[in-house]
Amino acid sequence: MRVLIIGATSAIASETARAYAEGRGRLFLTGRTGAKLASVADDLRVRGAAEVHTAELDVAQIPLQAQIIESAISKLGGLDVALIAHGALPDQSACEKLVVDTVAALHVNFTATVALLTVLANYFEAQHSGCIAVITSVAGDRGRQSNYVYGAAKGGVERFLQGLRNRLHASGVTVVTVKPGFVDTPMTAGVKKNLLFASPRRVGRSIHRAIERRRDVVYIPWFWRPVMMVIRGLPERLFKRLHL
Ligand SMILES: NC(=O)c1ccc[n+]([C@@H]2O[C@H](COP(=O)([O-])OP(=O)(O)OC[C@H]3O[C@@H](n4cnc5c(N)ncnc54)[C@H](OP(=O)(O)O)[C@@H]3O)[C@@H](O)[C@H]2O)c1
Repeated sequence: MRVLIIGATSAIASETARAYAEGRGRLFLTGRTGAKLASVADDLRVRGAAEVHTAELDVAQIPLQAQIIESAISKLGGLDVALIAHGALPDQSACEKLVVDTVAALHVNFTATVALLTVLANYFEAQHSGCIAVITSVAGDRGRQSNYVYGAAKGGVERFLQGLRNRLHASGVTVVTVKPGFVDTPMTAGVKKNLLFASPRRVGRSIHRAIERRRDVVYIPWFWRPVMMVIRGLPERLFKRLHL
């Protein structure tokens, strides 16, 4: 299996990468921080990966994305799976005060992801096979006062993926939308933990399974599907009064 992972230093994505490494996968990893990327790559080699290549990529640098994807295709001799995992949780109250913070959060979580997907979709469509998976979030299911900038970006990516799935189905390409709930990773280091938090291992391994099973939309853990169904179903006149 030839796998490209964008944002491979994420705690969740590195667990998915371990599952591929244990299956003797061939991996191309991108990450923003070179030293972190090198340590993830070393770990995957020890765990059995047949090949691990790395490239530094700050996804916000959109003009650099296509050349990194081309380099992954060339190093691995093609791609079977691409997983987009990068993400940044902005400070909601800072975003409310500063346009520049809001725009930066939308850029990294939405625009950069859509730009990557545009290049990857054309590659997989021409190949007539493969799988694109993207980590979005349950936060995209409904706007809440505590994180609607992040939620808007994740919700926008989800809608984009829906259209892409519809387009690529005829070419035999699967598009997997991954919607985790709360996960105990560096991203949520400042958030008080509760029983709803899942481990990155559980979430990362579930993403691997979802890709292997060519699922369309997965909530991880599973119970977020009914929870979010209820939350989405609440009428706006009631929802706007809640402090969520
Ligand atoms: N943790 C949660 O509760 C939760 C819930 C739902 C969805 N998610 C989503 O899960 C995905 C993985 O996050 P995580 O929980 O595993 O957190 P994490 O360990 O903090 O990973 C976030 C990753 O995004 C990378 N990143 C951020 N901005 C980047 C940029 N401009 N260019 C390249 N890489 C960038 C970070 O790179 P550096 O290491 O260099 O900073 C890091 O590898 C994200 O898409 C996140 O939105 C997380």
